[in-house]
Amino acid sequence: MAFVELEKKGLIGVLTINRPEALNALNDQVISQLSEVLDTVDPGETRCLIVTGAGSKAFVAGADIAQMSKLTKEEGTAFGKLGNDVFRKLETLPIPTIAAVNGFALGGGCELSMSCDIRLASETAVFGQPEVGLGITPGFGGTQRMARLVGPGKAKELIYTARNIKAPEALAIGLVQAVYPAEELMAEAEKMANRIAGNAPIAIRACKKAINDGLQTDMDKAVEIEEELFGSCFDTADQKNAMTAFLEKRKHDPFENK
Ligand code: CAA
Repeated sequence: MAFVELEKKGLIGVLTINRPEALNALNDQVISQLSEVLDTVDPGETRCLIVTGAGSKAFVAGADIAQMSKLTKEEGTAFGKLGNDVFRKLETLPIPTIAAVNGFALGGGCELSMSCDIRLASETAVFGQPEVGLGITPGFGGTQRMARLVGPGKAKELIYTARNIKAPEALAIGLVQAVYPAEELMAEAEKMANRIAGNAPIAIRACKKAINDGLQTDMDKAVEIEEELFGSCFDTADQKNAMTAFLEKRKHDPFENK
């Protein structure tokens, strides 16, 4: 059973969590398959990855509550690590990632979306971290990424109250970058992915690394990270192609990822 599907569409990939009968809830099989599928993404061939959920109702409705209900303390810790390791793999994927949030993104689903670089939502999307209503903390990075994305005060309010929010509020607090009618979401996500895919891939990878690594450190170290990555771009054919074309007042050749 393929709980995670990867479709290649030219220079972009669409990864779908495919367990619609349980609103794409993440059990250990889904999480393991997600890890395996992420390992197959070749940054040489795929320049941007969209992550979405199967069906029209849910992106991902969270970690699998039936499975979690029976866990011991040790198993709970191991389940958290399983999810965290895979979400970290997604977060540090060398290519840009866009979550196309097409419905419920609760608990582990909200956390999955926050492990992507950019979140686009349908008007029907619902975000939330309902864990404290189930007697647990967010377990796949929610306490950490929510606070970094929307600030500690708003993250604490949402996590302590376990309040769900609809797409317009998610947009207002900066959790998502844009909201579209449900039927337009995937086309808009693909439009953005293709636009990203048309830019210099090595430079984009360097931007992702600079932003992600820089946010984990102080500004003095962060600008050093940027300097090194900025410098590394001058070793690429794509930089020479684009700058020469600019000076010759013509359009640059397609980027070659070199
Ligand atoms: N785990 C397991 N099964 C789930 C699930 C989940 N997180 N979410 C939905 N399902 C299943 C339901 O059990 C139901 O299965 P059956 O048809 O076999 O009964 C099916 O999906 C459809 O769900 P509903 O009938 O509940 O659909 P609804 O439209 O009435 O409600 C919903 C939709 C509000 C999203 C509701 O399903 C819900 O509240 N789901 C749970 C959301 C949640 O609490 N998520 C957080 C989990 S904890 C977590 O994720 C921890 C972590 O950080 C790692």
